[in-house]
Amino acid sequence: MSGRDYAAVEAEIAAAIAREGEADAILRAVVDLLHDRLDGYSWVGVYFVEGGDLVLGPWRGPAATEHVRIPIGQGICGAAAAAGTTVVVDDVNADSRYLACFTSTRSEIVTPVLYDGMVVAEIDVDADEPKAFGDEDRAFLERVAETISGYCLVGWDTGGEDWPEVSP
Ligand code: SME
Repeated sequence: MSGRDYAAVEAEIAAAIAREGEADAILRAVVDLLHDRLDGYSWVGVYFVEGGDLVLGPWRGPAATEHVRIPIGQGICGAAAAAGTTVVVDDVNADSRYLACFTSTRSEIVTPVLYDGMVVAEIDVDADEPKAFGDEDRAFLERVAETISGYCLVGWDTGGEDWPEVSP
């Protein structure tokens, strides 16, 4: 899709990781880049897995969502976390799993963030156009998820420090 220079955004994400020391600043920068640099990415948020729930972390968009805590298994977000794979919904109004946040949203993509084979977080993107997300978006967001995985370990006992050192 035009207006989406995935390689440029990935380079900017790498630069943000090199520049920012703290995990929360890195994730904040990633959310901002996805929202600001990619046409049609109208609302972008990261949810963290905490116990059996997804808890909203950094987000960027025109309005806050009421869905700040979503049980795994509920909504598109909960479905992606339960399956451990990206879920793309071309028409949210035709999907009974959909938890509505914004009346303007027409399509959605949710990509789980895996660490050591476990789902630890996910990236949720809403668009105001139907069918806004294709194979390129899926592949791109899966690469971004891999890149940020070490910074998404909120609430996980890794057996070491609260924030394990992970090389970019
Ligand atoms: N639509 C999501 C809920 C989160 S909002 O899009 C920000 C869902 O169905 O899980």
